[in-house]
Amino acid sequence: MRNSYLVFGQPLIEQPEIDEVLASLRSSWLGTGPKVAEFEKRIAAYKGVPHALALNSCTAGLHLACLVLGLRPGDEVITTPMTFCASVNAIVHAGAVPVLADVDPVTMNLDPEQVRRKITKRTKALLPVHFAGRSCDMDALMAIAKQHGLKVIEDCAHAIETEYRGQKAGTIGDLGVLSFYSTKNIVTGEGGMVLTRDAQLARRTKVLGLHGMSADAWKRFSDDGYKHYDVEEIGFKYNMMDLQAAIGMHQITRVELWWQRRLQIWRRYMQELSDLPIGLPAPWGEHERHALHLFTLQVDKARCGVSRDELLMRLHRQNIGTGVHYRAVPGFKVYRERFGWKPEDYPAAHTIGERTLSIPLSAKLSDTDVGDVIAAVRSALHG
Ligand SMILES: Cc1ncc(COP(=O)(O)O)c(C=O)c1O
Repeated sequence: MRNSYLVFGQPLIEQPEIDEVLASLRSSWLGTGPKVAEFEKRIAAYKGVPHALALNSCTAGLHLACLVLGLRPGDEVITTPMTFCASVNAIVHAGAVPVLADVDPVTMNLDPEQVRRKITKRTKALLPVHFAGRSCDMDALMAIAKQHGLKVIEDCAHAIETEYRGQKAGTIGDLGVLSFYSTKNIVTGEGGMVLTRDAQLARRTKVLGLHGMSADAWKRFSDDGYKHYDVEEIGFKYNMMDLQAAIGMHQITRVELWWQRRLQIWRRYMQELSDLPIGLPAPWGEHERHALHLFTLQVDKARCGVSRDELLMRLHRQNIGTGVHYRAVPGFKVYRERFGWKPEDYPAAHTIGERTLSIPLSAKLSDTDVGDVIAAVRSALHG
């Protein structure tokens, strides 16, 4: 057994970002400034979109995305039960009504057929999540959106490297939102970014993300001297700091290298865990690029002789940290009470939520770490 605890979702922090953070601290410019602008430029170039707007979280970005698309109280937004609560909460914060459609049990992403069944006269938008980094069926979802005149917000919290038919995730719908939370494929501690091709949506996202102050207000963050600003709307305090961007602007330069490393780890897990009575991630289509964000095991007690929670505890006792992504949204108290959702109405998401367990997949893992995870899973399954 390992002597030290392997923390789940450890980011890889290297010298360039450490130096850049120190430079920010020494320059005394901590808040929004030139490093945020540089980080936005680098993400926009990586994603091939004209507009990338840095914020202090993906949740903030999803909230603003709902607002700038003009969602109004009573408007319905269809999303997935197999996601983090933030995807649903953002819809509620915008005053709209979240509606869940069940997932495909294999891809774990929104099932387009289930989405069709949930469309009503009030449906105004779809909010698909590229779960674990695997692309949603965007042809089908965009066709539904077109047919019914719906807007599309892509939750790309797991999907920085994801592609669908050669298009980068987050650039297919009206808006895409990335997360740079500490466990994500690239990190800023906390942070997010909204992507869009639409200059109007970009401008309004920027204005609403900083109190509703006119876009000129952002010029306060350059050294051109003081400029007066107007306040156009009642906005939010969602801006990213240079201290955060100092990390992200270097992380993005190594995103492909780290993806390659996670691919090696992924392949090793697939090979060395394949004889066990657990479910492994399904293969994806040739027209997709998976971001390899989460490696999820499916633990069916009838097959494994052990429940997901017991396996999780056994791995913990062997110093291996794991995650659960996710217990399905309808199982949580507030949603049951407020929307009357029942887990059994979303059987595919419910089953995944009861069985799923994510094992470490960070580019920071050494070959020894990966071997330790494999050995621990094997021994935990054998009691
Ligand atoms: C699918 C999904 N959406 C949204 C979020 C929210 O991201 P953030 O923590 O940056 O607000 C997360 C975070 O884990 C997530 O996994």
